[in-house]
Amino acid sequence: MHRDDYAMSQAAALDDTGSGGEDAPVLSAQRVEKTYRNGTRALDEVRLDIRRGEFVSLLGPSGCGKSTLLKMFAGLEEPSHGHIRWWGKNLATVGTPGHTLAMVFQEATLMPWATVEQNARLPLDLRHMPRAQSEPRVREALQLVGLEKFHQVLPRELSGGMQMRASIARALATQPNLLLMDEPFGALDEFTRNKLDADLRDIWSRQDLTVVFVTHSIYEAVFLSSRVIVMAARPGRVIADVAIDAPGPRDEAFRISAPFMQYCKTLSDYLTLANQQGGGHAGEH
Ligand SMILES: Nc1ncnc2c1ncn2[C@@H]1O[C@H](COP(=O)(O)OP(=O)(O)O)[C@@H](O)[C@H]1O
Ligand SMILES: [Mg+2]
Repeated sequence: MHRDDYAMSQAAALDDTGSGGEDAPVLSAQRVEKTYRNGTRALDEVRLDIRRGEFVSLLGPSGCGKSTLLKMFAGLEEPSHGHIRWWGKNLATVGTPGHTLAMVFQEATLMPWATVEQNARLPLDLRHMPRAQSEPRVREALQLVGLEKFHQVLPRELSGGMQMRASIARALATQPNLLLMDEPFGALDEFTRNKLDADLRDIWSRQDLTVVFVTHSIYEAVFLSSRVIVMAARPGRVIADVAIDAPGPRDEAFRISAPFMQYCKTLSDYLTLANQQGGGHAGEH
């Protein structure tokens, strides 16, 4: 990039009022640090751009700041230093058409007294969206997660995996441009998790959707992602940025293929290196 272009793009990235431009990253963490009020240094200078249509996983051991970073991406926590930009703009612009986000947590967090359909419709009801508009959206979202036949069922009648599907449908019903997911399948058995991974990958591939997915499973990260950001702890930081370029479909055959194993090995080596090096930085990018 020409120097002046670079200067201009930097200026645009920091200009909260100007248009972010079509090619601005969906998310940009610019030297983001986080120290909690009790003094815990959760993240040390994260620089990261996530572009439209990417499926990015944040991979790392417990305590490396994955949830902290995701909460800042959701606007639920503020950086102590640095900036986050959404589509090149500040948090105030999030929620406008083309710039919407939704978050899915590790727990399904459904209202126990409400049906699957009512749960999925909640964010739209909160926006006072007319039923004529919300109902088709909810139907479509339930269809995407394979719950269309269960719309009248209460959460307690569903398995853990199906409750998580309902939670994802609630997020998809808002038709987000950016979907943030914090270990959504961490509490599920491996078989169910694999199935949900495959369905999520399928949903993502059929929509104009950018996903940031937190996991501590190497296998899950490789299966799902177009790119994996590896993080280390104490303090939390990014130690590697790995593109998963495997050709062909992400199916059960992919899980036992040579490229899959190779990517798992690469990520595993980064995590081992991070643990060995303790507080130091391991081979950035
Ligand atoms: N609200 C908080 N107040 C103080 N410390 C916190 C808070 N949330 C998380 N932490 C600490 O910040 C670090 C990163 O936590 P977290 O982002 O939850 O990591 P991860 O999701 O990777 O397990 C940990 O040391 C954790 O104990
Ligand atoms: Mg976490």
